[in-house]
Amino acid sequence: MRDRVKTGIKNFDAIIAGGIPRGNQVALAGGPGAGKTLFSFEYLYNNAKEGNVSLMFSLEETSDMIIENAKAAFPDFNDIDDLISQNKLVIYGSEKTGQYVQRDTDGGSYSFNELVSGIGSLVSSYNASNLVIDSITVIKLMIKDKLSYRQLTMDLINNLRSQNVTSLMTIELDTATKEEIQFKSEFFMYDGIISLYLEGEGNNRVPILEVIKMRGSDHSFSTYPYEIKSNGIKVLSLPQMND
Ligand SMILES: Nc1ncnc2c1ncn2[C@@H]1O[C@H](COP(=O)(O)OP(=O)(O)OP(=O)(O)O)[C@@H](O)[C@H]1O
Ligand SMILES: [Mg+2]
Repeated sequence: MRDRVKTGIKNFDAIIAGGIPRGNQVALAGGPGAGKTLFSFEYLYNNAKEGNVSLMFSLEETSDMIIENAKAAFPDFNDIDDLISQNKLVIYGSEKTGQYVQRDTDGGSYSFNELVSGIGSLVSSYNASNLVIDSITVIKLMIKDKLSYRQLTMDLINNLRSQNVTSLMTIELDTATKEEIQFKSEFFMYDGIISLYLEGEGNNRVPILEVIKMRGSDHSFSTYPYEIKSNGIKVLSLPQMND
């Protein structure tokens, strides 16, 4: 049996045959406000609660913002501060991660030389078994050259695989709905893709999720609505079990 890392998100692990295969690097894609940050936070929180060091590397929000938003969305997670003080849940917000992304002296382009090795060092110094990078798209926006972006992402993925850390990397899509979605070639690099959407109109928009691929797993191809509740995310319909 392959060693799997549970997300702990209610009804989600059953969809992916019990959890994410350990060491997999999974893209968590979705439009603006689709729930990427909250989903990935809960993955880390649940694993931290199990005693496994879980690291959030955010290029988007400060540590305070991440913690504040998570507490507001999940008021029942009342031990977030304890897990942080025990270094089980490690939040590296943009106030700390900025040093890995520096403008060159000419001011025109960004330098990412330290990013891959920097994330790798953090994972090993904290002995993290679970990682979130929020978001990969920030890096993409700063790199003008497509080939350099793919090379950097590939280096990052290979490095993290070799460290056997199980990661979710968020990717911002331009659209929120499933119909309009286009998966670009960069997605082939990842071991898995989870996609979050908002469907419906106006006040009736509901979040849904879909597993596009998960290497090493006989996963469901259905789409599932989910809810953000005070005690965590809950996927609403259980998958059809195979015969
Ligand atoms: N308690 C809650 N109940 C229901 N929905 C909530 C709750 N708290 C937040 N949300 C929803 O979650 C969304 C934000 O989720 P999150 O920050 O994870 O999205 P995201 O995909 O990371 O967004 P972004 O593209 O801005 O990074 C909010 O727009 C809101 O619709
Ligand atoms: Mg976000």
